[in-house]
Amino acid sequence: MKKIWHIIALPVFVLLILFSIGCSGNKEDLKQIESLRKPVLDYQKKMLTPFLSTKAVDCHYDKHHLGYYEQLLSLISNTPLAHNDLREIIEKTKGDSKKVKIFNNAAQVYNHNLFWKSITPYKGGKLSPEMKQLIVNSFGSYERFTQLFVDACTSVFGSGWVWLIRQGTGIEIMTTSNADTPIAYGLEPIIVLDVWEHSYYLDYQHNRAAYAETFLAHWVNWDYAYRVLTQ
Ligand SMILES: [Fe+2]
Repeated sequence: MKKIWHIIALPVFVLLILFSIGCSGNKEDLKQIESLRKPVLDYQKKMLTPFLSTKAVDCHYDKHHLGYYEQLLSLISNTPLAHNDLREIIEKTKGDSKKVKIFNNAAQVYNHNLFWKSITPYKGGKLSPEMKQLIVNSFGSYERFTQLFVDACTSVFGSGWVWLIRQGTGIEIMTTSNADTPIAYGLEPIIVLDVWEHSYYLDYQHNRAAYAETFLAHWVNWDYAYRVLTQ
């Protein structure tokens, strides 16, 4: 008996360590997205060129994203909501006509936090075999997925967002308008593309489809998506 324990103890120990590292990394990803800390980018703005120009990212991140963040802080200052994270604020204010401003700003901070995470200058668009299989299982083929995603981007009327969300053991495409967000409905988003005009008009003018196609081809952060999916 003692001999068997000696044989299995090391592999079990290694597996436990790997499992705990994996779990803490994933939880950290979600905590960052839902945190009320000042949003930060994981890369230099200029590294998103040529997908997005520095001028466009300056305006989008500094003016729009941080603008929503500062507005949210001022709206919840000295209220019980100041002690909540973004997900809790969104859940507590959704559907409350007296708290529409708070909901909109909190949702926009969350949506943009995930948006910048959904982009990477490091091997963007590169699919691991596991992520590719998940896409094929959910949509039939990678080509069909890209067509559906780009169609979803062009179908959003006015301002909004195109998401990949967890659906059972697979993933699904979802669109929302204005500030609306899947977490208000208890859904679990893993990737999002901002299709408000402020996100693409400087670089792509009216061509929202080209913006979505470029995102999928070279900039989408599939590693992040897979980490969140396997939490
Ligand atoms: Fe935006």
